[in-house]
Amino acid sequence: MRIDVLTLFPAMFSGPFDESIIKRAQDRGLAQVHLHNIRDFTHDRHHIVDDYPYGGGAGMVLKPEPVFEALQSVRSALVDVVPVVALMTPQGQRFEQSMAEELAKAPWLVLLCGHYEGVDERIRQHMVDREISVGDYVLTGGELPAMVVLDAVVRLIPGVMGSADSAGDESFSSGLLEYPHYTRPSDFMGWKTPDVLLSGHHAEVAKWRRRQALIRTAQRRPDLLAENPITAEEREWLAEALEEGQGLSPA
Ligand code: ADE
Repeated sequence: MRIDVLTLFPAMFSGPFDESIIKRAQDRGLAQVHLHNIRDFTHDRHHIVDDYPYGGGAGMVLKPEPVFEALQSVRSALVDVVPVVALMTPQGQRFEQSMAEELAKAPWLVLLCGHYEGVDERIRQHMVDREISVGDYVLTGGELPAMVVLDAVVRLIPGVMGSADSAGDESFSSGLLEYPHYTRPSDFMGWKTPDVLLSGHHAEVAKWRRRQALIRTAQRRPDLLAENPITAEEREWLAEALEEGQGLSPA
């Protein structure tokens, strides 16, 4: 997968992209990340990328010319692949695991980081395929959102995560929050690991995990449960468990 990031602050990406899983994905050739400085696409002496908004008002607007040129330049890198161009903006569609899964299927992703009050509307209208928000809050720019999107997408590329199923059984991928994890020692400071996990009984472990995932989701994110198809039997069990408070881990 190829990912191009258009930003005014490429140096912001060097820490996160030079470490850990994103770095490994690049080293292995599973993801190619290219950073572009929008300022490099200006032609004036002062490399100006922003200007006052027409009609007045506070803040500055990212000028259309350098963004247009940067996007054209990036697009020309590959002739036989069409990129998905995504603008990072708090006005975009909310980023969720399902969107990460969809984007991970694209061969080429271009992330455009807005700044100041935003980009000129004509860029949004004519040069962008989709708009992504990482949540209902306003950040100083699209760089951190682009890193969030990139991280969530790259780890889904087959072969990026260590073990084949470590990206499959986790929170949100099943529509539920994930069950709790324990590792050795089984008794730490008198805090015990549930017996079932030490039993070696795979079917019982699977059942316990599913039930814990249901309880966790009901306690913390009931909105997810409402959207998630769980069986009538599970729904009944869950209602009883919540009522009795049995087997519940602290919320
Ligand atoms: N730029 C500023 N705030 C943002 C947000 N919440 N999501 C995406 N891009 C942004």
